[in-house]
Amino acid sequence: MLNSEVIQNRNLEREDVNGRVYPFVKWVGGKQALAPTLVSYFPKKFNNYFEPFLGGGSVLLTVLPDQAYTSDQNSWLIDTYKAIKENWKAVAKALDGLENTKESFLKIRKVQPETLTLTKRAAHFIYLNKTCFRGLFRVNQQGQFNVPYGEYDRRYYSPENLESVSKALQHVNFQCCDFEETATQAKKGDFVYFDPPYFKLGGYSDFNRYTASQFREMDHVRLASLCNELDAVGVKWAVSNSDTQLIRTLFAGYKFAEISARREINLKSQSRSVVELLIMNY
Ligand SMILES: C[S@@+](CC[C@H](N)C(=O)[O-])C[C@H]1O[C@@H](n2cnc3c(N)ncnc32)[C@H](O)[C@@H]1O
Repeated sequence: MLNSEVIQNRNLEREDVNGRVYPFVKWVGGKQALAPTLVSYFPKKFNNYFEPFLGGGSVLLTVLPDQAYTSDQNSWLIDTYKAIKENWKAVAKALDGLENTKESFLKIRKVQPETLTLTKRAAHFIYLNKTCFRGLFRVNQQGQFNVPYGEYDRRYYSPENLESVSKALQHVNFQCCDFEETATQAKKGDFVYFDPPYFKLGGYSDFNRYTASQFREMDHVRLASLCNELDAVGVKWAVSNSDTQLIRTLFAGYKFAEISARREINLKSQSRSVVELLIMNY
């Protein structure tokens, strides 16, 4: 069941009213509402931009860097970015052919993405995200998408926005890999923004089903040690995470900004304000 999940930023399916390019999927932990605040803390100048935990891409689409290197461990998501970058119109056309009914949803949910062309794979990904319950992307331990039908009457995409996303992605490199592989490519003068699955008291991240594997305490330790290495070679970075003792200890000695965020706390859409951290080495 879904009811114990902590879900952030419930307005993600709403179109951006500020004229920004906005994510084409709703993503748990997505930073659409916070992105302008976060970006105001970023260095004013850097060479290449790196974002190893890309997710829905709300920060990337706010920064709109000239040259970017991004990754996520979710291969279906990364393929979807690639398809939109390559030919957004073909993805839109494939989406237009998918019906928003429970019957059609259940059929599409069963299809293994690897059996489809890149364009159709992307269309199925966006379709499932827009028609499933609360727009969650969640897979089981076998990596199968397992969210129920949501019965929402909304369009799957906006052509204007999809075109803008595609334009914004033309100088973005995508990899499906672990964050370490991407971030270690950064050089002196580059900037890396890390937005990992948040650490939660109890040892696991607050939401662990973006991919078939989980993001554990040792991964947070691994991230902190990578940040020390990057710091030593003159790479600037910022890390978002929960305001917890472990995170404060792992990053002791760096700069902390407390950022106020609204989080949904249960299925009845109650929300509360929480403070989260943006940690910086500059
Ligand atoms: C909090 S979300 C990022 C949200 C994103 N900033 C946004 O605004 O939509 C974290 C992302 O990290 C990805 N992820 C989890 N473990 C990873 C790993 N070891 N390496 C790279 N990405 C990983 C998840 O698939 C998820 O998309």
